[in-house]
Amino acid sequence: MKFFVDTADVDEIRDLADTGLLDGVTTNPTLIAKAGRDFKEVVAEICAIVDGPVSAEVAATEADAMISEGRTLAQIAGNVTIKVPLTWDGLKACRTLTQEGTMVNVTLCFNANQALLAAKAGATFISPFIGRLDDIGLDGMELISEIRIIYDNYDDLTTQVLAASIRSQNHVKLSALAGADVATVPPGVLRGLVKHPLTDKGLNAFLADWKSTGQTIS
Ligand code: G3P
Repeated sequence: MKFFVDTADVDEIRDLADTGLLDGVTTNPTLIAKAGRDFKEVVAEICAIVDGPVSAEVAATEADAMISEGRTLAQIAGNVTIKVPLTWDGLKACRTLTQEGTMVNVTLCFNANQALLAAKAGATFISPFIGRLDDIGLDGMELISEIRIIYDNYDDLTTQVLAASIRSQNHVKLSALAGADVATVPPGVLRGLVKHPLTDKGLNAFLADWKSTGQTIS
């Protein structure tokens, strides 16, 4: 499973990219507003830090305007991935942009039929929102599993399942178990994946015992 980080905070992205384990970035208008910077400038800076797909979302809601904005954003860098909402206009824009060779991430997906339409529209990625489904008492993880089964039923559906709206380390594990191709993870959750109290405890014990040997490795 690929790991993307869900943020427009360039400092966080640079720091996580240094681990060598970051495969891409997703942004959205809320994350861009939170960054408080010029949209195209911050996308260009992110694309220069991360070689993998960097999602930048259109603001238009009508297909022709979405296509125009997508073409503008795609000129920023070769790894820009255009995010469009799961609407008929978004699907029309997806078809045109993917036919032009631009990667498209269809976002705001909340059921399997929407995901099926996005795949038929040629989407590079589909972003089912796990956390927002959980927030209203539904099972976000069930959607990931449903999409995986549907896509695997048809060889011509090549869209990658990008698990989004991830709120916990458990969401990451369950997304991997369900066969998501990508998980886009908030920075704090991503950092927490490496932590376990028994790892810390065991390392401290190893270090203490090694110190007692008085030896060095050099
Ligand atoms: O960026 C898309 C998605 O990850 C947003 O997540 O937490 O705003 O539901 P969230």
